[in-house]
Amino acid sequence: MTLHPATEHFRYRSGALQCEGVDLDQLAQRYGTPLYVYSRAAVEQRFAALRHAFGPEASICFAVKSNGNLSMLRLLSELGAGFDLVSGGELRRLQAAGVPTAGAVFAGVAKADWEVREALAADILLFNLESEYEVDMLEALGAEAGRPVRLAVRLNVDVDAGTHDYIATGRKHDKFGLTLDRAAVVVERIAAAPHLELRGYHVHLGSLIRTPGPYLAALERVLEFMDGAAVRREGVRYYDCGGGFGTGYGDPGGLLDVAALGRAMLPLLAARGLTPIVEPGRYLIADAGALVGEVLGAKLSAGRRFALVDAAMNDLIRPALYGATHPIVPLREPPDGAARTPCDVVGPVCESADFLGRQLALPELARGDRLAVLAAGAYGFSMSSNYNSRRRPAEVLVHGAEARLIRRREDFADMWSQEIDR
Ligand code: LLP
Repeated sequence: MTLHPATEHFRYRSGALQCEGVDLDQLAQRYGTPLYVYSRAAVEQRFAALRHAFGPEASICFAVKSNGNLSMLRLLSELGAGFDLVSGGELRRLQAAGVPTAGAVFAGVAKADWEVREALAADILLFNLESEYEVDMLEALGAEAGRPVRLAVRLNVDVDAGTHDYIATGRKHDKFGLTLDRAAVVVERIAAAPHLELRGYHVHLGSLIRTPGPYLAALERVLEFMDGAAVRREGVRYYDCGGGFGTGYGDPGGLLDVAALGRAMLPLLAARGLTPIVEPGRYLIADAGALVGEVLGAKLSAGRRFALVDAAMNDLIRPALYGATHPIVPLREPPDGAARTPCDVVGPVCESADFLGRQLALPELARGDRLAVLAAGAYGFSMSSNYNSRRRPAEVLVHGAEARLIRRREDFADMWSQEIDR
């Protein structure tokens, strides 16, 4: 049985939840829980959909922040991805993974000198200039390195994509990008700076955008801006529409139709000689990952039913931080007609915000049963922490019938290895 179309790589076979051809219960026994499990086929399928939607020329830059595991970066690089970076640490990750950095774009509302120096040395494709102070800074660092700095100006086009306040970035009071009036000045300054080269424009409206409309509204404003003066078009070859491509989290209708977006956007770009760049994180990796946990106990409190599990908000903070809902399913398929009642799936952390799901219709669960939190591949491990001195989980990558450990579970000593006077 398929759980829902967005998680077709996680399904029950003979009553057991599998990731591709691998039994999740066996992985849990072998590597322990909590455990992140990823499907390679799911990533490949989404990458192919993006390539099909945006064409052979497009740069598909995977947002490293969504899942920076070195094996995942290698997999995406093999598929033909470039990378969207937001820190020097993410650049170091690419280098540690041994993947090419030439196709990387570097966004970030505030960049430090060392980050720019390292990215210049790595000869990345584009820096996304977001704040006015960066003009002088990038010019000075370009002069110091004796090389031109290729730029895309990040425009704040004041489009509200209607997403959660914390992950909306394209409204005029958000801290990201340059409003069009300021961008007009900045573009002139770039044109006058000997080491700066304007190559494109960048917009990122936020995350979990489920329709093409906001992307097209943003593009229209950017094209209007470009039409405003010749200096805004000189040397401009790229349009980076950002990431934020919505996925369903259990709602099959939530997946952005990337083919429709491509169909609407590509002719407008082609007419101006612009090559598309897209920066998806979640679309590529969210549905490819599950967080597996084990039930430590069941509890009934004032009529409310809790499943107490060994996975917690430190492993997956999205429900606590954004009120995000992830489908949660038992690894053993419940028999047909099994009663399901509302249940809160909570972890052992000492906060009431420590829940993975609330009021989910779940069958009876007992100590030792295992669960999978689905659609957890993006912003799951990458936002995990050691809160409550909990070791961060192990990660496994599944390919067909094979499973490979791509990050071991932390040792306790890892947690205090950087503390001095031990
Ligand atoms: N490009 C830029 C400039 C971004 O800031 C982001 C995400 C992306 C691309 C990728 O967005 P995606 O395609 O993955 O939605 N922790 C939150 C998401 C924060 C996203 C921050 N920026 C979450 O768990 O929903």
